[in-house]
This record gives sequence, structure tokens and C-alpha cells, in this order.
Amino acid sequence: MSVEPVASPPRRRGPYSVEYVRLGVPDLPATIAFLDYHVGLALEEHDGEHAYLRVGTEHHSIELLHEPELTAFRYEAVGYSVESEEVLDDLRLRAEAAGLEILPLQKRMQGLCQQGFAVTDPNGTTVELFTDFIEYAEEPWPDLRPQTLVHPFIITDRYEDTVRFYTEVLGFQASDYVEDFTAFLRCEDRYHHSIAIRRADRFSLEHLCFIMGSFDAVMRRRARAQYKQVRILGDVVNHSASHSLAFYLYDERHGPRYELCDGHRVLTPEEHETHRPRRLKRDPRNIDVWRAAADDRTWAH
Ligand SMILES: [Fe+2]
Repeated sequence: MSVEPVASPPRRRGPYSVEYVRLGVPDLPATIAFLDYHVGLALEEHDGEHAYLRVGTEHHSIELLHEPELTAFRYEAVGYSVESEEVLDDLRLRAEAAGLEILPLQKRMQGLCQQGFAVTDPNGTTVELFTDFIEYAEEPWPDLRPQTLVHPFIITDRYEDTVRFYTEVLGFQASDYVEDFTAFLRCEDRYHHSIAIRRADRFSLEHLCFIMGSFDAVMRRRARAQYKQVRILGDVVNHSASHSLAFYLYDERHGPRYELCDGHRVLTPEEHETHRPRRLKRDPRNIDVWRAAADDRTWAH
């Protein structure tokens, strides 16, 4: 007797790509200058209250809100594009089934896409999902600019809830875990991770990663940080999970740590459907393969 193979149902798709984050900052002009000189973001539309900055053709990678009552940055929202109305509708159904409130997009954002909605993640971050993000025909004038925003990295005291929210509700797929401590989750653009989540005793946006496009550009940006005495909080590392070389600069008035990297693993279409996440050992050599031994903590900050 032959057994008919049973086709498994098609995988429900997640968001396509991370597009932007929205940060409140205490001194809008100072943060614009910082992001221009140190990260390479190009300033676009802006007024005294907010500013859009971009790196590629996407409308913006960071929106800044002027909030002079703050002393350090505040993380308000993250935006993920969705490849079609069908996937957006399915994500809305999943969010409703999970009992989440479906919220409108931020007013300005409503004019920058075709359709979308927002939900709040377990940490209180607004997650905006939308189709047809407005884009520019060309990239901004080159000036050591990153190519794209590739991931936010958050730490949270609600690790299990947050991982479940992004995987089970929003359809992100796990690329790798570090024990039961960190989760790297990917979108449909197949970058190794479009969000990373680490267990902690508090919630914070820990860093934002931009791909620079060459190691030379990473090192030139590192030289600028040293020249202006901006704190390098995590010097050049070689990440095992995403196969990227990166360093991190940090000034809490201007945002989380900014990770500037070269190379970031993109899974093949086949790997995207079949990859089984590894559960990596919690070991400095997984964060930086150049560390000398398991007890080498010199990368740590
Ligand atoms: Fe990162």
C-alpha cells in the first residue's frame, strides 16, 4: 500500500524588511549633525519638530522627534514593509487572533504608504506594518553612507513574550539562538536577522545596525569616531551568527549604539524555507570569532 504524501500548508509570510525606527531625542539639530557625520545618514524633510534621514532609496531609515524634556533618546516605533496587501491582511488577522488592538499608522506615515496598521509589542514599542513605502528614485549623494538599516537589537525583561510575538504573531522566522538568551529573527528579505532580542532585566533598544558596503567604509567611520572622541562601545568584532565585521559607537543623547558593519549573511531562497535555527553556545567567540578563548571578555562593554 502506498501512502499519499500529505502536502504541508504553505508557510504564512512575515513582514518583508525593516525600513525605519522612530526615536525621540533631546536635541534634534545635534542628533541630525551626529547621524550625518558619524553614521552617514542624509537629511531629508524636516522642521523644528521632526526630521527624516535616509541612506538608500527608502523614504527614511530614522525619523527623529524633537523632545527637549528627554536626557537620553527614547525608542518609539519600528516600521516593517510588507510585500503585498494579501500578506498585510493575513498579518492583521494574526494580530486580531492574538487579541491585539489594531491601531492606525502614525499620521505622517499614512501619507508615505498605501495601506497599513500598527500593533504594540510586549515591550510597548509600536510596530508599524505597511505596503508600498514611498521611495526615492536615487540614493542620496554618496558620502561614506550605509546601504541600509538592517536590524534593531532589543533587550527585554519579557523575552519569551517578545519572541512569541515576533515569530508566532508576525511570522518572523528564527535564524539562530544563543542558548535561551538571544534570538535572531528574519523577515522575507532573508537577511539573517531583521530583529534580535536578548533576555535582560529591563527593556531597551540596545543598538541599530547599518550595513556600510565595504570594510574600508567601516574603518573610515571608526576613524571619524576616534577623531571626534565619540565613544566606541564594542570595537571591531567578527560576528559568527551574521558573518559581519562591525564596530559600535555610542552617545545616548543621539540614539542607541550604532553598529556599522560590512557583510551580513543573507540566506538563499532555499535556506529561507528549510533553515533550522542553531542554538549557539553563550561564548564570546560566538559574538566575536576573533576572541582568544572562552573567557576572553575584552570585547565586552
Ligand atoms: Fe547587531
